[in-house]
Amino acid sequence: MIDLLAMHKHFLGAHMKKGGTAVDFTMGNGHDTLYLCESVGDEGHVYAFDIQEQAIVNTEKLLRDSGCPLNWTLIHDSHANVLNYINQPICAGIFNLGWLPGADRQVTTRRESTAAAVEAALGLLDSDGILLIAVYPGHEEGRLEGEMLEARLSKVSRYDMSVSKLQIINSPLSPYFYAAERK
Ligand SMILES: C[S@@+](CC[C@H](N)C(=O)[O-])C[C@H]1O[C@@H](n2cnc3c(N)ncnc32)[C@H](O)[C@@H]1O
Repeated sequence: MIDLLAMHKHFLGAHMKKGGTAVDFTMGNGHDTLYLCESVGDEGHVYAFDIQEQAIVNTEKLLRDSGCPLNWTLIHDSHANVLNYINQPICAGIFNLGWLPGADRQVTTRRESTAAAVEAALGLLDSDGILLIAVYPGHEEGRLEGEMLEARLSKVSRYDMSVSKLQIINSPLSPYFYAAERK
């Protein structure tokens, strides 16, 4: 059976650069942040965003307990405001849409801010950089975020980026993801 998380790493791993700058646009419990911190190493830097204080607390604990490099900045703000914090090219950006596992499901990512953040992220992406966006179509807002992303990402010039979608087509409510790779 296909393991989507292993596939995330497969796509991301080909683009991670020691010393690079990476962004976790949906910090949550910090697992993707930790992966990015370890991948870019001591000389790199990771910025992670979340609108929930609990995500900052959980992620800071995970990063400190893991002994990963002190190469991170945790930002308590919407990812839609990313350009207020970052203006250098990024080698990788991760969106893991939806809600914080174990927390209030009403606090979920939403089309308007997701669209603004993805637009900004596309602009920040360095040559050979990757944007990975995991979508959860099993709830209504997640389904609509997926539709919005499909419409936007299918319009990206194929001369500039390669945009792939990995979906289990006989399980349409299962999570799927987009990988946008800059040439
Ligand atoms: C599925 S969780 C992310 C899981 C995380 N990547 C991990 O490894 O644990 C989605 C997160 O997005 C956050 N979120 C929702 N809207 C947001 C926004 N506008 N900006 C930043 N984060 C947001 C939620 O608070 C939640 O923590």
